[in-house]
Amino acid sequence: MEKIRDAILSGDLSAVGGLDVPDHYRAVTVHADEVEMFAGLPTPDKDPRKSLHVEDVATPELGPGEALVAVMASAINYNTVWTSIFEPLDTFGFLRRYGKTSELAKRHDLPYHVVGSDLAGVVLRTGPGVGAWKPGDEVVAHCLSVELEHPDGHNDTMLDPEQRIWGFETNFGGLAELALVKSNQLMPKPAHLTWEEAASPGLVNSTAYRQLVSRNGAAMKQGDTVLIWGASGGLGSYATQFALNGGATPVCVVSSPAKAEICRRMGAELIIDRSAEDYKFWSDENTQNPREWKRLGAKIRELTGGEDPDIVFEHPGRETFGASVYVTKRGGTIVTCASTSGFMHQYDNRYLWMHLKRIVGSHFANYREASEANRLIAKGKIHPTLSKVYPMEETGQAAYDVHRNAHQGKVGVLCLAPSEGLGVRDEEMRAKHINAINNFRGV
Ligand SMILES: NC(=O)c1ccc[n+]([C@@H]2O[C@H](COP(=O)([O-])OP(=O)(O)OC[C@H]3O[C@@H](n4cnc5c(N)ncnc54)[C@H](OP(=O)(O)O)[C@@H]3O)[C@@H](O)[C@H]2O)c1
Repeated sequence: MEKIRDAILSGDLSAVGGLDVPDHYRAVTVHADEVEMFAGLPTPDKDPRKSLHVEDVATPELGPGEALVAVMASAINYNTVWTSIFEPLDTFGFLRRYGKTSELAKRHDLPYHVVGSDLAGVVLRTGPGVGAWKPGDEVVAHCLSVELEHPDGHNDTMLDPEQRIWGFETNFGGLAELALVKSNQLMPKPAHLTWEEAASPGLVNSTAYRQLVSRNGAAMKQGDTVLIWGASGGLGSYATQFALNGGATPVCVVSSPAKAEICRRMGAELIIDRSAEDYKFWSDENTQNPREWKRLGAKIRELTGGEDPDIVFEHPGRETFGASVYVTKRGGTIVTCASTSGFMHQYDNRYLWMHLKRIVGSHFANYREASEANRLIAKGKIHPTLSKVYPMEETGQAAYDVHRNAHQGKVGVLCLAPSEGLGVRDEEMRAKHINAINNFRGV
């Protein structure tokens, strides 16, 4: 592994394909025999630092259409938080089911799960049938794993019945020194970014792009007003940039003055601090308070000069969904990709049907959407939102920060990269965007 790291650090990328691939590597895992370790504890008390391990695992065999990547850096996504607290299900069920689908997929069904759904690194080996990528290529990987053996996914690969999120529903994820991906997950690494910056947008940037911009999501257009929950978080920090970049007006909801400041740094002007406003959308566990929905709606109108959101960018779920449906403009769209606070939503359907609103479900992104989102990063039109970086040994702490909502934007993890700041190939372009790249640092 040292030789691979040295070749990459010295820039001798053509040599990388000639180096031996080690038969084991360091990786962040959860263990199948520990899935009950938090049984009975409330969700906030389940501690990723106890369940995430950093250990040596065996290098998987490389199959057709696949690539082995030397991972320089990765990032924490909320799916790694879910995996590490074994909620809503432990991920070994995904691996068992995947393992039953083919001889090759059996590799994924192991008593440990190497997690992580983002990476920036260098291709080490490609399997039979791979033509578009070769050893030595500097890449990032999106996390859509598809088989495409059925007709269903051929208009939109997210509809493939064998669609999985790599590093969550498959093994051999990106929080590791090596990762196994399908070659159609690979995309060029943006040349002006460091390894850790390049690794951080992937999953959330692609998801926010489909959810907000793509015709498969809310198809945002110029002039739209977009209410963005968690606007300085993983998804929200990209949704805010897409809204600003696409001529829409974001109304950013955050929970502290520091997070509001980050939104201002991105260029947003309309900001709601939900903690300061102290919204109580639920009077008790089973009853919502429509007066509080109205109070949010009035605040939005106060900021926008009387306009309601054409689009509400939803992911908190149960806590906010009733309010989101209420405040959306007549004929507008609530687009949802998650339910962080609970997946059994309640809303007053009269506001949906009488006002001809639509609820659209969205999940990750197809290769085309992920590649369009990555291209925007590579062109310097959208920027990474990295706030803090941990070494791989401290991945448990990094996931703990995200679980506690104590982070801003994205939290990075160094894998083979020995320190931050390496891997930049286009210094001139970097200099042009350096302030925007650092917007989330040190807040
Ligand atoms: N379907 C997909 O493809 C997909 C992809 C990515 C993520 N997700 C899911 O989307 C969710 C968010 O992911 P993320 O990466 O953006 O996480 P994140 O970085 O933690 O950001 C989420 C933000 O939402 C806000 N929030 C949390 N709980 C809230 C509540 N009860 N009410 C209002 N706002 C709340 C918080 O911001 P404030 O405290 O500042 O308000 C938080 O920073 C997770 O559940 C994740 O699993 C789904």
